Amino acid sequence: MSNSNSDQTAVSEESLHFVISEKEFPEDDRVIADINGRQIAVFNLEDEYYALSNFCTHQGGPVCEGMVSGTLSINEEQELIYCLEDELVACPWHGWEFHIKDGKHTATDDYRIPSYDVVVQDGDIFVQL
Ligand code: FES
Repeated sequence: MSNSNSDQTAVSEESLHFVISEKEFPEDDRVIADINGRQIAVFNLEDEYYALSNFCTHQGGPVCEGMVSGTLSINEEQELIYCLEDELVACPWHGWEFHIKDGKHTATDDYRIPSYDVVVQDGDIFVQL
């Protein structure tokens, strides 16, 4: 798992916050956990985990509760193609879209949702704060 840190020696146990076990994780979906008063979503994208704050940088909406999708783009042959399938989440309040893998806004570098490392240990999923 590219976003999961399996090197346990580099991770402080106090910084790990249990979210859910892998076997209970809904397939290709997300889980939102309350960690130290912050809502943090963990997404499962084809068995890789990514964590984002559930606080939209626009006006504080529950961004991670929004629709997950891809987007349209133009390829080298100038054809319209669908890409980044299931890698974008749209805030349900005003539709701003962010990349699930790193929290970046799809249209500008001026906005980004905080992202967090995800650690999987013995089948359990943790967010590192
Ligand atoms: S609060 Fe998320 S798009 Fe406005």
